Amino acid sequence: MSRLDHFIARMVSQRASIDFAVAKTAHLDGPVFELGLGNGRTYDHLRSRVEGRDIFVFERAIASHPDSTPPEGRVILGDVHDTLPAALKRFGPTASLVHADLGGHNPAKNDAFARAISPLVEPLLAPGGLMVASDRMYFDALEDVDLPEGAILDRCFIYRKPG
Ligand SMILES: C[S@@+](CC[C@H](N)C(=O)[O-])C[C@H]1O[C@@H](n2cnc3c(N)ncnc32)[C@H](O)[C@@H]1O
Repeated sequence: MSRLDHFIARMVSQRASIDFAVAKTAHLDGPVFELGLGNGRTYDHLRSRVEGRDIFVFERAIASHPDSTPPEGRVILGDVHDTLPAALKRFGPTASLVHADLGGHNPAKNDAFARAISPLVEPLLAPGGLMVASDRMYFDALEDVDLPEGAILDRCFIYRKPG
């Protein structure tokens, strides 16, 4: 698989998985958390799909396209190792959907990062809430969810908090 193939597979999988997860959690009213704003493409997609739920974006340094920059008050600025525990104190276990795309180009580093933040993400989800991640996560109590049509195995991962 070329790097272009790999990139396209990740994008196509993100879109299919986000659309699936937004629909499956539409009955929940808790906030949506976007971890990693980057250029803002997935944030822009999320906000075009989510209705009636607040979207908060976690990012250490805003560098998004101006059209895809969240409003002040909806950005939680800082390193997720610090901001996710702070979010648990602020929001409790209420998130209806968490989307994470925090990784870079080094698979081993991405895996270590995913292991480190999994226990920080898990308690944020409301019962029935979903997490969509670009890297495999390491949860104790969340269930694996089958990928929807259009998403490619191992390019995206979906997890659900029972309840
Ligand atoms: C791959 S980009 C996200 C791309 C985005 N999904 C899009 O569609 O444009 C990853 C982002 O995660 C952010 N990030 C990485 N590690 C982080 C950390 N420890 N805390 C907060 N943000 C982090 C980076 O600054 C970067 O903007």
